[in-house]
Order: sequence, then structure tokens, then C-alpha cells
Amino acid sequence: MPKILITGCSSGFGLAIAHKFLDAGWDVVATMRTPRNDLLPPNDRLEILRLDVTSADSIAMAVEAAGTIDALVNNAGVGMLNVLEGTEMSKIRELFETNVFGAMAMAKAFLPQMRARRSGVVVNVSSTVTLQPPPALSIYSASKAALNAFTESLALEAALFGIRAKLVLPGSAPTTGFGKNAVSRMGMEIPEPYTAFVHDYLTKLRSGTEVTTAGAVAEAVWRSVTESDAPMKIPAGADAETSFREAGPMLA
Ligand SMILES: NC(=O)c1ccc[n+]([C@@H]2O[C@H](COP(=O)([O-])OP(=O)(O)OC[C@H]3O[C@@H](n4cnc5c(N)ncnc54)[C@H](OP(=O)(O)O)[C@@H]3O)[C@@H](O)[C@H]2O)c1
Repeated sequence: MPKILITGCSSGFGLAIAHKFLDAGWDVVATMRTPRNDLLPPNDRLEILRLDVTSADSIAMAVEAAGTIDALVNNAGVGMLNVLEGTEMSKIRELFETNVFGAMAMAKAFLPQMRARRSGVVVNVSSTVTLQPPPALSIYSASKAALNAFTESLALEAALFGIRAKLVLPGSAPTTGFGKNAVSRMGMEIPEPYTAFVHDYLTKLRSGTEVTTAGAVAEAVWRSVTESDAPMKIPAGADAETSFREAGPMLA
């Protein structure tokens, strides 16, 4: 059976991606910062590993324990809703450590074995914020834009050895823990001169009728992993598909 390793499986998209590949008969390494055995159904093909993508030691232990994998999904990520003036530099660095450097470190850790076998796929979970820059998300958008540029360039290097690198771009998914997790980790003290502006943006965002589901993201990751001619960027969710259409072929 092919084997996939997914980061950030404690909730949201990561959990849905793990379910999807388990249901399809894959061997699944579901990684979590704090491992839990009660989130996914017991299965001989499921291995749960501890992994914090910001820790070199944690990555080394996960690589050792996972063994040979066919697909790596860098899904772990954290959001931040604030204007630049309300954001501490330490939090900006913390966010980039997970969303950007974590994905780079994971790809770097698994590339040697994929290169030796001349096969494998790395899928990075980005966001449609990279298509239409929203307000109050400059740091988060910058991290995902960096992830896009990294992945598109990596794809050219990796292709030399039969390895694919792909991007999945979800839209806004209010049903995952993303917003709550972002606020609890990154804070959300909007400086007073910006509060009305951010409030208006949030009201507009919440009035949107199209949203992304975790199932749509799992489906997009499935396509990226299993279709050898999958597009470089796949939208995930109804709102993401609309963003792709509006962005046009050059941006998407
Ligand atoms: N939800 C949205 O609207 C949305 C839209 C576009 C893109 N995305 C992206 O989709 C991905 C998943 O988001 P989600 O909606 O499923 O959010 P979520 O429910 O908050 O899940 C994020 C996952 O990442 C994990 N994580 C955070 N920091 C980590 C680290 N240092 N090492 C390992 N794992 C870490 C979290 O683990 P803990 O439980 O331990 O914190 C959690 O499992 C993220 O990359 C996010 O940027 C989300």
C-alpha cells in the first residue's frame, strides 16, 4: 500500500485528509503536536506520530519512525488576524516558523528518500489569500505567498528526480478550529485606529455564502497526490473556486 504522512492532524483539514486516505486504503502516518488516539478510527494502516514542525529534533524522530513514504502533506499551519501595527515581531516569526520554515524543513527531510526512489509527491496546503490580498491578514498572506513561491520553485528541482511538488489553496473554512486557534496562539488586539476597518472586513467575510469544507480540502489533496498530471495549484472549496475564476489563469 502507498503511504502518506500528514502534518497537523489534530483537527480540521489534517484530520479530514487522514480520514480520506485511510478510507481509500492507504497507509497513513497522522502526525500531531500532541498525539491523540481517539480522533481517528483504530486501523492497522494508521500510525500516529508526535511531530512539531518547528523542532528539528521532532522532525528527525518522525522521519525515522515513519520510514518510507510516498506522499508528504504539509498541512500544519497557524493563522493571524491583525494589522501589522498590532502584531508583535515574535509572533510574526512564530507564524513563519510553522507555515513556511516548517514546510521547508519537512520537505528537506523527506526529499533524500524520495530522490533515491525517484518518486514521491509533496503537497503544501496554502490559501486563496494569496490570490486576492485581504486586509488584516498581511502576515498570514505573506507566509502563504512564500509557501507558494517555495513550492513552485521546488517543483522544478524535484522534477529532476521524478518527484512532484503541488499546492492546494483552500478558501475560508469557518467550521475548522482555525480562527479560534489563531486567536488563542497569536492574539487579536487590533489597535484602535484600525478597529472599524477590521470590523467591517470581518462582517463582509462572515456574510459570504460560499465556504470551504474540510472534505473539499481532502478531495483536492487526493487529486494532487494521486493524479500524476494534477495542476500546480488546486482550489479547495466553492469560495476558492470563485477566487480562482476571478483571479484568472495568470494568477491561479
Ligand atoms: N480554515 C481556513 O479557513 C483555512 C483557509 C485556507 C488555508 N488554511 C490552512 O489549512 C491548514 C489547516 O488549517 P485548519 O483550518 O485545519 O486549522 P486547524 O484546525 O487550526 O488545524 C491546524 C493544525 O496545524 C497544527 N499545527 C499548528 N502548529 C503546528 C506545529 N508547529 N507543528 C505541527 N502541527 C502544528 C495544529 O495542531 P495543534 O492542535 O497542536 O495546534 C492543527 O492540527 C493550515 O495550513 C491553514 O493555514 C486554512
